[in-house]
Amino acid sequence: MKDFLAISDCSVPELQELLAESSSLKAFYKSGGRDLCLAGKTLAMLFEKPSLRTRLSFQVAMTDLGGSPIYVKPEDIGGIGKREPVKDIARVLNRYVQGIMARTFEHQTVLDLAQYADIPVINALTDWSHPCQAMADVLTIQEHFSHIAGIKIAFIGDGNNVARSLAFAAGKLNMKLCVASPSGYELDEETIRSANALTPGCTSQVRDPYEVVVDADVIYTDTWVSMGQENEKAKRQKDFAGYAVDGKLVAAAPRHVKIMHCLPAYRGYEITDEVAESPGSIIFDQAENRLHFQRALLKKLMTPDPQSLLSC
Ligand code: CP
Ligand code: NVA
Repeated sequence: MKDFLAISDCSVPELQELLAESSSLKAFYKSGGRDLCLAGKTLAMLFEKPSLRTRLSFQVAMTDLGGSPIYVKPEDIGGIGKREPVKDIARVLNRYVQGIMARTFEHQTVLDLAQYADIPVINALTDWSHPCQAMADVLTIQEHFSHIAGIKIAFIGDGNNVARSLAFAAGKLNMKLCVASPSGYELDEETIRSANALTPGCTSQVRDPYEVVVDADVIYTDTWVSMGQENEKAKRQKDFAGYAVDGKLVAAAPRHVKIMHCLPAYRGYEITDEVAESPGSIIFDQAENRLHFQRALLKKLMTPDPQSLLSC
């Protein structure tokens, strides 16, 4: 595993190993332990979009492991792929640092970085997917339910990058994802087909949010207006009417249901403040687990392979 670009690229044992390592590093760091396995290593963090959780959790995780993160705003380098081609950025960074993480608009940008850099490249969110988020979400589900297999997630709203990564996580780890969206905002057919090819029936798409929450273990939602879609805001807010996760929708779900949101949450739109702050809400556990997953991911990708050390 050189890169982490999409959950669909990873094998089930790799994903399970990352989850196990996240849990064990979480316990280790909480008990005061420190693992400086990335001492002397540097991670370049390229961002075309804003970020609180992803940027800070990677920065803290890298520092925790003894390494150094460098945050690069697009304007610092004249735009990704604008002042110079992405393939040149990749080959230059290859000579300076030991890992790249990037948050971009086009998914192709992270694919190009990975193709032209020999060092690991991590997808920190693209318009197409958000795999680090989905893995932190799975870790959170595992902690709250003590298992992953068979958990049903009712995803209410936009069939977006987060929903897509959750679909691949469902396919790989035997969960169920049922997305309820208004017309025109569904999860794409190709994603549904690919996820269901991994585990038949794991991902489905319906119109009615009440239909999917009735037997849900988790109700998940995300913004109706993803980064880069700001000029569609008024239309989207109108089109998503009736898709808010509110007290009435939660009341239609089983009593044990947990509420998840990748954050940032736009209260009063996709989720009410009452639901976000309710006892069933585990949104800050999810946010915390971004750090614990990021640590495990950086350790796995940026620590030299023991086999290659032996062969030196
Ligand atoms: N959930 C998430 O990726 O948050 P940020 O946009 O703040 O990184
Ligand atoms: N779907 C959202 C996720 C933010 C973490 C976006 O892409 O803006």
